[in-house]
Amino acid sequence: MSIDFGTDISEEPIVAKTFLQEDAQEGSLRPRTLREYIGQEKAKGNLSVFIEAAKKRGESLDHVLLHGPPGLGKTTLAGIIAQEMGVNIRITSGPAIEKAGDLAALLTNLSANDILFVDEIHRLNRSVEEILYPAMEDYAIDIIIGKGPSANSIRLDLPHFTLIGATTRAGQLSAPLRDRFGVTLRLELYTPEELCMIVTRSASILNVEIEPDGAMEIARRSRGTPRIANRMLRRVRDFAEVKADGVISRAVADEALRALEVDFLGLDPIDRRMLGAIIENYGGGPVGLETLAATIGEESVTLEDVYEPYLMQLGFLTRTPRGRCVTRKAYEHLGLAAPGGVSDGGEQLTF
Ligand code: ADE
Repeated sequence: MSIDFGTDISEEPIVAKTFLQEDAQEGSLRPRTLREYIGQEKAKGNLSVFIEAAKKRGESLDHVLLHGPPGLGKTTLAGIIAQEMGVNIRITSGPAIEKAGDLAALLTNLSANDILFVDEIHRLNRSVEEILYPAMEDYAIDIIIGKGPSANSIRLDLPHFTLIGATTRAGQLSAPLRDRFGVTLRLELYTPEELCMIVTRSASILNVEIEPDGAMEIARRSRGTPRIANRMLRRVRDFAEVKADGVISRAVADEALRALEVDFLGLDPIDRRMLGAIIENYGGGPVGLETLAATIGEESVTLEDVYEPYLMQLGFLTRTPRGRCVTRKAYEHLGLAAPGGVSDGGEQLTF
């Protein structure tokens, strides 16, 4: 089983949602233990207790659901859990498990206490999901033998295992599946200070000299996301090697990120098109997500999963029952005058 590594870097923006080939090559940047893992203090604190307790009892860890925007380290965390538990991990994804039999094969090949990691678990199809229920609850699967009136079902026992599911959209999980996870952890966007530590650590692994101001510049512009910070680090390193003396200073980081059209808050051309379209075509909003996506020629899931979390964290965008609205801050960032009545962050005001 493998992860879908997505498309090649040449066609993808730096904010790309999927794993790029380049991300996969840099597996060495991934922390391997909870101690090495920077940020997500709440999730880490809880996990370390659950891991220690399961180990003390000699049991498998309860099933874990990790959710949050892409690029925050869900796969990395699953690898760390396996490492800390001292068990094997098998990695797959919702869309890769096409038939119930695919999942049955995966489950029957696990050893006691092993971890099955299912990325994009919200994309499992119904028949596969139904196999998971007894597997998660009773460590057993029911196999149907034969067809029609003579069909028979036999129950196959499985080793006690841990399912780790990852999703960008916990709301799309069916209630029966969501209820079978004993632990649910939400990963949050990282602070610039945490990202600065991650960039500094990655630069040291990649053997790149970086000044503290250079690391902070990358951190502030990587929209709360380690995967983006590490991608930016590699691009900035190219600039430092070709156009400077190889050292990443603040000036080099700034020049490289400007060339990549990433502004000082980390917004890229798609963010600006999104905000610009809401302002120019819909008077600042509200506008429905699908309409907005069609207007700027992007997929609505990409806007929702990849772009909106950061724009909302910046306080540039609000979701209201009637659609998306931009705030006064967004007008100011784009150098536009906000009309009277535009909200500072709550609901759009009407007069
Ligand atoms: N690289 C990517 N994510 C990281 C994290 N959370 N801590 C340390 N290094 C990382």
